[in-house]
Amino acid sequence: MLACSVAGRALVVCRTREGLFALDDVCTHAFARMSEGRLRGTRLICPLHGAGFDVRDGRVLAGPATRRLATHLARVLGDTIEVALDPAAAPQPEPF
Ligand code: FES
Repeated sequence: MLACSVAGRALVVCRTREGLFALDDVCTHAFARMSEGRLRGTRLICPLHGAGFDVRDGRVLAGPATRRLATHLARVLGDTIEVALDPAAAPQPEPF
């Protein structure tokens, strides 16, 4: 996993056997950095309360989170990772 920021949005880029995926780096349950959690296959696990998200589409696999993580298009171009932010993604919460 790689934490980064694109246009002020905190993202986590996950490399899996199924490809490269970019998601919001802030859990939808409370403020936790998803990049500090664990990646098991295509399951991204929050470090704070253990919610699980599917990196392919951001859907919730395990609570306590109930809202999906925003996903963004990502691709590798040479030695660069390009990310296109989802313009419909909700604003990210600010840290406390
Ligand atoms: S902050 Fe992620 S599950 Fe609670």
